Amino acid sequence: MTTLFTDLNSYAEWRNGIPATKTVGFVPTMGALHTGHLSLIRAASAQCDVVVVSIYVNALQFSSAGDYQRYPRTQTEDVNLCSAANVNVVFAPLRTDLFNEEVVQLVQPSSAADNFEGSDRPGHFAGVVTVVDRLFSAVRPTHAYFGIKDYQQVAVISDMSSQLHPDIAIAVCETEREHDGLAMSSRNRFLSEAARASAALLPTALTATITHWKNGTTQTGALIEVARATIAQDPTIDIQYISIVRAGSMDQVQTVGSTDVIIAAVVIDGVRLIDNMSFTNA
Ligand code: PAJ
Repeated sequence: MTTLFTDLNSYAEWRNGIPATKTVGFVPTMGALHTGHLSLIRAASAQCDVVVVSIYVNALQFSSAGDYQRYPRTQTEDVNLCSAANVNVVFAPLRTDLFNEEVVQLVQPSSAADNFEGSDRPGHFAGVVTVVDRLFSAVRPTHAYFGIKDYQQVAVISDMSSQLHPDIAIAVCETEREHDGLAMSSRNRFLSEAARASAALLPTALTATITHWKNGTTQTGALIEVARATIAQDPTIDIQYISIVRAGSMDQVQTVGSTDVIIAAVVIDGVRLIDNMSFTNA
């Protein structure tokens, strides 16, 4: 039985009733739930006594009001999915439950936010860490679950959490993919049929790069060329960045080892998609 709380007071009353000996697993989301979110929920259920999922479309992390308004809002379906997954509580707060000030004092993200998504989407990670900080304070979890699909987000949130919420254990879950390898994302629904078909070139490019590495190419430059050439099969795809970084960091490497991670962002048909793969998983 899933309980939906749409305000902080009723949530807090429920949370106060959870004994301190129990673990509370938290999955923060912006809704429009898909199988990727459900894998986080499954991990939380397997490890924790109770599971809380939040649904909050965070205006602070969008670069334009249009993007924020366009974001899919499917709360009824989301709550049904949570029920089927035995989630104890869905917390869908109002803005005023998280921010009682008119002008929000932003949390400054760590230097892990400097490049890639951080520089392509100015202000994005400040918005993310600010809302996750507020959600952590409101929800009071013992464990919080994030997807490695958003590799840089995990790095930035981990830094924020170790500073501001050192008692919350951060758990990181693998990326759930469609049959053709495309990472599941609430944005995939915005792709036209043709764009959806060519979007699979992104994971294909990452896999091809890892295959080249397995075959002995270890220089970052040569490996990134492999990824670029694969994506160039559809000249309409606009590559934002492709890079290889040291596992768990945003530090770029010159010679690639087994724990390193290839990260990429592209724009297809106006839709920005990100993906990454670890050379370990090859
Ligand atoms: P959202 O995009 O809804 O994602 C919620 C969580 O689901 C994130 O941790 C994300 O990495 C994870 N996720 C998304 N797609 C996934 C996939 N294909 N496989 C596995 N996990 C996946 O990320 C956010 O919301 C927001 O930035 C948030 C952290 C909630 C702050 O507003």
